[in-house]
This record gives sequence, structure tokens and C-alpha cells, in this order.
Amino acid sequence: MKSIPESLQALVGQAIKRIDTPALVIDLDAMERNIERMARFAQQHGVLWRPHAKLHKSAHIALLLEQAGACGHCVQKVSEAEALAAGGVNNLFISNQVVSPGKLERVARLAKTLYARSGRLAIAVDSEEGIARLAKAMQDAKASNGAIDVLVEVNVGQNRCGVEPGAAAVALARAILAQPTLRFAGLQAYHGGAQHLRSAQARREAIAQVLRHVNRTRHEFDAAGIALPLITGAGTGTMVNEAASGVYGEIQPGSFLFMDADYAANEHDPAQPVFEHALYVKTQVMSLGEGRAVCDAGHKAHAVDSGLPRLHALPPEQALRFENGGDEHGLLYPAREAGNTSGWLPALGETLWLIPGHCDPTVNLYDHLIGVRGGRLKGVVERIFTVDGRGALT
Ligand SMILES: Cc1ncc(COP(=O)(O)O)c(C=O)c1O
Repeated sequence: MKSIPESLQALVGQAIKRIDTPALVIDLDAMERNIERMARFAQQHGVLWRPHAKLHKSAHIALLLEQAGACGHCVQKVSEAEALAAGGVNNLFISNQVVSPGKLERVARLAKTLYARSGRLAIAVDSEEGIARLAKAMQDAKASNGAIDVLVEVNVGQNRCGVEPGAAAVALARAILAQPTLRFAGLQAYHGGAQHLRSAQARREAIAQVLRHVNRTRHEFDAAGIALPLITGAGTGTMVNEAASGVYGEIQPGSFLFMDADYAANEHDPAQPVFEHALYVKTQVMSLGEGRAVCDAGHKAHAVDSGLPRLHALPPEQALRFENGGDEHGLLYPAREAGNTSGWLPALGETLWLIPGHCDPTVNLYDHLIGVRGGRLKGVVERIFTVDGRGALT
């Protein structure tokens, strides 16, 4: 696990106003409510939940999620898996394709380490070549039989990774079953694009189409006499649909934990628990100009791939519009259309809270997350989390 500098550790027990800016702050009360709601949702639907750790990249947070009932964690990269395993996380699924021999050597080493700790490593595959390479890496590492779980990723509409549904998926399962070091563990059927369709109905329809692909594939498995131990997939935007399908045994939402501005723009599905924003960039005004204030959070402080951040909890008469001021600056203008008719601007040094457009790449910009209890006005720093998988791209 990464270390925490003394100056940051010294913040624990201090008032929230002592946090210098820009900083990435977790509202622990909101995060814990999100976790509770997810745990209840999964229990009500009889599905396992394996939250995606590409969001938080923190071993400590992964362990908190396990305490609440998560069955393990998804990661997207081998190095993310290594970082979490180094922090004591034992059950990991690399929900992605890995084909380079160097990385597969690390996968095999990690699978052996987790196996020896009574944990498990799982990985997705979508090609015969990928399976052969993985099997070779496991043999070269002298791994025990069945030391890694392998799931066939099926392209259920995202047109990213994944073998086509139906017979092609069965062929890959057979290739896995032919390798003694590999254990066939089921299918990954994830549709990322469906998560952010704005209307609940559009998301429902997209997942209905996903289910047609999944069911066609299940029937091919039945016909081939191959048991399907698990179907896993789903993110925060569509999980109500996969969880209610009776087909998915596991869901993989990640963003529910922090909830970004982009997800907040989705129409709420009444069947979905209400998840709250729990991650903020704390920023302060560092300059005032004619009709504008300038804060110290530019796009090195928050990701912009899903749009600019939103300002949190300002009354209409103080509504502000955030505009990109470059790497280190954010520009704030009175949002007259939202009710700030007087042109009010915050004072020099005033604190503002930004809700990132997209939390995953925002977290990846920071070494630490500062956990605060008691709200953004009167809260106290309770805990510092290390972003163990920061920059884990390989
Ligand atoms: C394979 C996979 N599963 C689950 C998720 C989690 O999605 P979300 O963070 O939208 O809940 C992602 C996110 O990109 C993903 O790629």
C-alpha cells in the first residue's frame, strides 16, 4: 500500500476547513449510505456484487466494501490487481483482455499468490490465442490445476471486447476446459454504453437486447452440455435490469460508490436505489476578475472526458457556471439563467465543492482521498485513503 505523508496524516481529527486545495474529498456518510443501499439491493435481488475498483483504486476501500458484503472486486488492469493484492485484497477479477506475455507472466504470478492466500484471481478472455497464452503462462509458472478462473467475455452490444454471442462463446469455453491450469468460470456480458443512456426506458431496452444475446448463448451452452457457473456484468446505470433478469448471478457496478455528475444526468429508474454524490474536489477562489472568479481546480484536478464538474449545493441566487480555465484554473461565472441575477461571485479564498463529471479518471489524478465525517460545512477529517492503483495502466 502507498504511504501517507505526515502532513496529510496530521489532518486526521482536524476540521474540514483545514484541507488545502485542490483536494479530493470523500463524504464518508454519503459513501456509507451508498454502500448500504447497494448491499440491500444485491440481497433483495439474490445477486452477488463485485464492485469495480477502477473507480476508487484503493485497497482500504475495497476491504470496506467486502465488510459490507461485496464478494470480491473487478479491476481493469493487471497492475490494479497487483496494487490491491499488495494491500490485502484476495478476490479479484480482471474484467478485461490481457494478451501480452509479460503481463500474463504477472497474471500467473498473482494467481499463484492469491491461491496460496486462499483467495482467487479471475480473468476475462475473448480469443483462442488469449486462452493459449494464458495457459502457457500458468504452466510456465507451475501453477496448480484450476488456479485461475477464466470467464469468456461476450460482445453483447458495446462492440468493444468480447467474442460474438452463441457458438463462438461455447468454442472458447471448450478451449478453456481443455487446459488443466484454467477453470472455466462463466461469461462476462457487460454493456458499458448502455449505462449512460439518459432515459430509464432506453436503458431497459438496451439491456433487453443484451439479454437476448445472453440467452442465445446460454441455449448454446445447454445444447453443448456445458454448465455455465456464472454470468457477470452490469454497471451503476443499468444494474436494476441485469439484477432483475434472473440470469445474472453477479453485478459489477463501481460508480454507485461516489456518483459523478454524468450519472446524475441520467433519469432515475424507480427500481434503482438512490445513490448520492460522495466525492468532491475541494477548491478555493484564488483570483477575482471582472465578472468572474477563478478557482484553483483546472483539468489536472478533475477529469473532463464526461464534461466539466458541477458546483455543489449553491442556492439559485448564488448559482455559478464552471468553465475550463486550463490545467490549473477553473473559471466561475454567475449563472444568471439559474437565478443568480445579481451577478454574485464568491469572495477571494472562499471554498467551493465540485462534483466531478467522471469519478474514475478524477481519482486517478490523486495520490490520496481525504475521508470526512459530518458534512462539508462542519465535518472532520476521519481517514486518509491511499489511491494504491493510481497510474496503474499496464
Ligand atoms: C467491465 C466493467 N464492469 C463494470 C463497470 C462499472 O461501471 P460503473 O462505474 O458505471 O458502475 C465498468 C466500467 O467501465 C466496466 O468496464
